[in-house]
Amino acid sequence: MKVLILLGLVFLLMLAHGRIIPRCEFARILKQNDVDGDSGISLANWVCLAKWESDFNTRATNYNPGDRSTDYGVFQINSRYWCNDGKTPGAVNACGIPCNALLTKNITTAIKCAKRVVRDPNGILAWVAWRNHCQGRDVSSYISDCRL
Ligand SMILES: *[C@@H]1O[C@H](CO)[C@@H](O)[C@H](O)[C@H]1NC(C)=O
Repeated sequence: MKVLILLGLVFLLMLAHGRIIPRCEFARILKQNDVDGDSGISLANWVCLAKWESDFNTRATNYNPGDRSTDYGVFQINSRYWCNDGKTPGAVNACGIPCNALLTKNITTAIKCAKRVVRDPNGILAWVAWRNHCQGRDVSSYISDCRL
């Protein structure tokens, strides 16, 4: 009985923390969705980006008090330009999706929207964490140990 209660608690905690996708599984999902080389960005760069933006947590959200927008999901996609969360002043929703569609375990929608983001002139520079941790570095180790 105690064990069952404990398991139940662990399960609830796991739900609360959302889903952390193991790095190599994340790389495989991206590859299956033809992300490698999309807009000239290598798979290793995408994995580096997600590592530093969300640590592969599909439920990651971060509020930006400056413009009252929020970043959503593994790619930390912003509600000012890309999705609709119903509370961001002047939001554009260029991906045409509700922001919570970026928080699901199935990251197909998040990948589609990320591809849209990099088609903009700023491209991958839109992601501060990519600039700070991945730009100009050898990022091969983010996928070199994965069976892809
Ligand atoms: C994820 O969602 C997409 C489209 O919404 C679907 O085609 C795909 O099969 C789903 N993947 C999994 C693993 O459920």
